[in-house]
Amino acid sequence: MSVLQELFGLDGQVAIVTGGTGALGSALARGLARAGARVALVARRREPAEALAAELVAAGGAALAVPADVLDRARLEQARDAVLARWGRIDILVNAAGGNLPAATVSAEGSFFDLPCAALEQVVALNLHGTLLPTQVFGAVMAQAGQGCIVNISSMAAQRALTRVVGYGAAKAAVENVTRWLAVELGRRYGAGLRVNAIAPGFFVGEQNRALLLEPDGRLTPRGQTIIAHTPAGRFGEPDDLIGTLLWLCGPGARFVTGVVVPVDGGFSAWSGV
Ligand SMILES: NC(=O)c1ccc[n+]([C@@H]2O[C@H](COP(=O)([O-])OP(=O)(O)OC[C@H]3O[C@@H](n4cnc5c(N)ncnc54)[C@H](OP(=O)(O)O)[C@@H]3O)[C@@H](O)[C@H]2O)c1
Repeated sequence: MSVLQELFGLDGQVAIVTGGTGALGSALARGLARAGARVALVARRREPAEALAAELVAAGGAALAVPADVLDRARLEQARDAVLARWGRIDILVNAAGGNLPAATVSAEGSFFDLPCAALEQVVALNLHGTLLPTQVFGAVMAQAGQGCIVNISSMAAQRALTRVVGYGAAKAAVENVTRWLAVELGRRYGAGLRVNAIAPGFFVGEQNRALLLEPDGRLTPRGQTIIAHTPAGRFGEPDDLIGTLLWLCGPGARFVTGVVVPVDGGFSAWSGV
């Protein structure tokens, strides 16, 4: 066995990717499939999930669309049962469903004092509960087996104040907190083979944040310019930039790594701005 296979090989492993049809989630799903994992895609809309599953299968992989809302326990349990019926095991869970909601963002003209509480609750539900619920449903299978790897997706908004996205930042800070909590709880109760980590992506252009970062003609907005000016790599991330870190965290070579949050941000979080 080559050292790469020994440290990073995922052949035959079964991975669940929530938000697996999104800008970042689909890159993560493709990366896992290319590394040899069988991939189940969880998203609310069936069609994009089935289209991506067909693409992964056409490329020689094994994939399954299991449509479910990450906030709907019964649908998640149906998805879990479908995966177990097909492949009989679950080794990896990537919690990539999430994101910001415009109503929970302080607009350029608006004020924090007018933000609707319901919008803040929604963004916390999607990112925090939308991470915890799939972890309960799919993680229980891993706990029974005494091994598995969970990777949550955080954000630069978790650690430092990013203007405007107050609810999203709070929700992602909670995701980082529960990443550490779950690493301790699951590792201690169900064995060191059960690990929980997170990736904190820097700034990637997706449908959710395109208008915040780019003008309709493709030029940077003032916010986009500020971000690039504070990113030593001098660019936004490409979704594929996340794959190497995900494969490392999921592979056998990371067997002693749990409870960490890895920034993949072109150096944004390292820089004071001076
Ligand atoms: N893009 C960035 O710059 C960036 C930076 C840092 C962190 N992140 C984080 O990275 C993760 C992925 O972001 P992204 O840019 O790939 O998002 P995206 O392109 O908007 O995709 C979101 C994905 O989540 C699914 N989804 C949304 N709500 C769901 C729900 N309630 N239940 C099940 N699936 C749901 C969507 O499919 P359906 O609509 O069909 O459900 C889609 O697959 C998020 O947690 C985001 O906060 C993104």
